[in-house]
Amino acid sequence: MQRLAGGFQAAKIFLTANDLGLFLEIGAAEKSPGELAAALSVDRRALRLLLNALTALNMLEKGDHGYRNHPVVYEHLGNPATYRGAIFRHIHHCWDSWSRLPGVVQTGKPDFAAEANALGENDEWTRDFIEGMNDVTRDLAPQVVPQLDLERAEVLIDVGGGPGTYAAAFQQFWPELSEIRIFDLPDALALGRKRLEDLESASKVRFYPGNFEIDPIPGGADAIWLSQVLHSQNESGCQELIRKLYAALDRGGKLMVHEFLLDDDKASPVMASIFAVHMLVMTEGGRTYSGAEIGAWMKAAGFVDIAVLNVSDDTAVVSGRKP
Ligand SMILES: C[S@@+](CC[C@H](N)C(=O)[O-])C[C@H]1O[C@@H](n2cnc3c(N)ncnc32)[C@H](O)[C@@H]1O
Repeated sequence: MQRLAGGFQAAKIFLTANDLGLFLEIGAAEKSPGELAAALSVDRRALRLLLNALTALNMLEKGDHGYRNHPVVYEHLGNPATYRGAIFRHIHHCWDSWSRLPGVVQTGKPDFAAEANALGENDEWTRDFIEGMNDVTRDLAPQVVPQLDLERAEVLIDVGGGPGTYAAAFQQFWPELSEIRIFDLPDALALGRKRLEDLESASKVRFYPGNFEIDPIPGGADAIWLSQVLHSQNESGCQELIRKLYAALDRGGKLMVHEFLLDDDKASPVMASIFAVHMLVMTEGGRTYSGAEIGAWMKAAGFVDIAVLNVSDDTAVVSGRKP
């Protein structure tokens, strides 16, 4: 229990070091606390304590002259070519919302508009959120997308696909698709667009700014991909969105909902259960859902052939067809 309670201290040390750009500053070299304190403009004694704690946490290694990145840390946070620090900056932005958990448990609602900040109101947070999604999915998307059945699809809409990572994977693994449309909020879309626009590997991708709570979803598609979006909605929001996606699909079209699914007991697996609390502090009424819940909403909207497919260690796809 003590280790569990102290977990926030290790997390804070790591997230602070990432925000400082410490791992990038060390890069592939071994650097002394003096060199690092000067480069990062921080207090040398404080940094030395942080460096030693990061060494104890196996993120750094201590040499004769200073500190080196552990090879795994170097790959993901120390090497600019393979860097993925945005996701950890996004997690750190969420820290304040988590600190308010006791109040949220009292009232049932967050009193801080964290979600709005990540969805456009705060430029830095929005960039870290959208780039962070790419950090997480750039290995996952090429694993998940080939497992989907899109043999008969020609036009796919990726709703909430702003980061663009899945869209590029759809083009790579399903060459029969003639067009891949990304529908997302304008700020998120602009960030993904900037990264994809010049890529040959995203030549079939088109961009549709919009808010699915207000705007219509463009019609004329025979496949819809909704990945890691439903959990930010409350139960009636999920049902409404699924009905809207049903209306947008052509007959015979397929909806695929990708999520961290809860088991039927709603208390496992651990990742989806903790993510439900993450949504409690971050959104107005979101949480994670079970495959049975999502499947029931799809059935009520009119979908048939509903199936659940585990596509990675932590995620699954609930799919259904519009008859
Ligand atoms: C957690 S991210 C998931 C991104 C991507 N689909 C993935 O799986 O990595 C949620 C996405 O939904 C988008 N989104 C959230 N609310 C939205 C809304 N009301 N209308 C359109 N897009 C929305 C966000 O901008 C963001 O790109």
